[in-house]
Amino acid sequence: MFEALTPVGEMLTRNFDPLCRQKLLICGQLEDSLPRMLAEQGPAPAVFTTDFRYFQWLQQHGYPEAEFGHRPRQRLVEALLLLMPKAKAEAEYLLAACLPLLAPGARIFIAGDNKGGVKAAPKLLAPYCDQVNKLDSARRASLYQAELSRPAPAFQPADWVRRYPLTEEGLQICSLPGVFSAEHLDSGSRLLLDTVTSLHGRVLDFGCGAGVIGASLLKRHPGLELELIDINALALEASRLTLAENRLHAKVYASDGLAQVTGKFNHIVTNPPFHAGLKTFYHTTETLLTQAADYLRPGGSLILVANAFLPYPELIERNFGHCETLAATGKFKIYRATR
Ligand SMILES: C[S@@+](CC[C@H](N)C(=O)[O-])C[C@H]1O[C@@H](n2cnc3c(N)ncnc32)[C@H](O)[C@@H]1O
Repeated sequence: MFEALTPVGEMLTRNFDPLCRQKLLICGQLEDSLPRMLAEQGPAPAVFTTDFRYFQWLQQHGYPEAEFGHRPRQRLVEALLLLMPKAKAEAEYLLAACLPLLAPGARIFIAGDNKGGVKAAPKLLAPYCDQVNKLDSARRASLYQAELSRPAPAFQPADWVRRYPLTEEGLQICSLPGVFSAEHLDSGSRLLLDTVTSLHGRVLDFGCGAGVIGASLLKRHPGLELELIDINALALEASRLTLAENRLHAKVYASDGLAQVTGKFNHIVTNPPFHAGLKTFYHTTETLLTQAADYLRPGGSLILVANAFLPYPELIERNFGHCETLAATGKFKIYRATR
């Protein structure tokens, strides 16, 4: 995982000179070993990521000080390299969170896949920089460079929280840029919530996003012992905010799939991930379906919503010996398997 250089990484290797002149804060996911290559050419860069899987990989590959969270640690940094995230709103958020760490005149680089929105770099930097230059373009990736023209305003996380009501549940959902269902409830998650009835005991909201499923279940069944996990720090923070806003209490923590989860549950409830980066990616969900039975108490159930076309029933049957379809629309199906 993350070993071979990505096209963005390859383009960056042609730009070691400007990148390695100062200690960089790399923000985002390079998905390759470029941080190490940069460290061989100049001061070792610091890496801040909102992705728990990449954070763990960095820790295991000689970056014990890699940071994971919804905002970087407060200190001064000499320059910033932002790897363009999928959502433009997330790029705006990350710039707002990182740029106050830079002094005026410091260099800012933005790199990314041309298909991933990196061309928005000049617009993203316009509030902070008077001039933005394109430094390189190769392998369908681009690198932009600018200098911070004036001190960036102090980062106020609360300014980035979006709220929307779940009227049926009487909940207020808090979300952050780039988090799934950031502006409204997903119709698959709605179907899941309308289908799931009587839960009890210890429950896992797998891939919690803004916490919509977990918070709704807890509101209906206040006695649940609920845990919410996600790989994304902004999703985890959004879930914490959603719970706090609705005066609900649950355990929220980072986990890559079930890797950081311990013990067994009465129910695992999920609208599982179906995208990773720009590629459609089912690996996480396939692993969940394969491992879920080991994390369920006898009589416990896995309940999930999935796009109707996905071949999950076979995989569920292979691991549980059966798969019930509890509800179906043209687009989604709700599956349940009991241990
Ligand atoms: C389809 S969204 C569902 C979000 C939320 N439960 C809802 O219904 O709105 C899937 C979530 O899984 C998370 N995710 C992706 N890969 C993951 C992994 N390996 N481990 C844990 N969560 C993951 C994503 O960050 C995302 O928040």
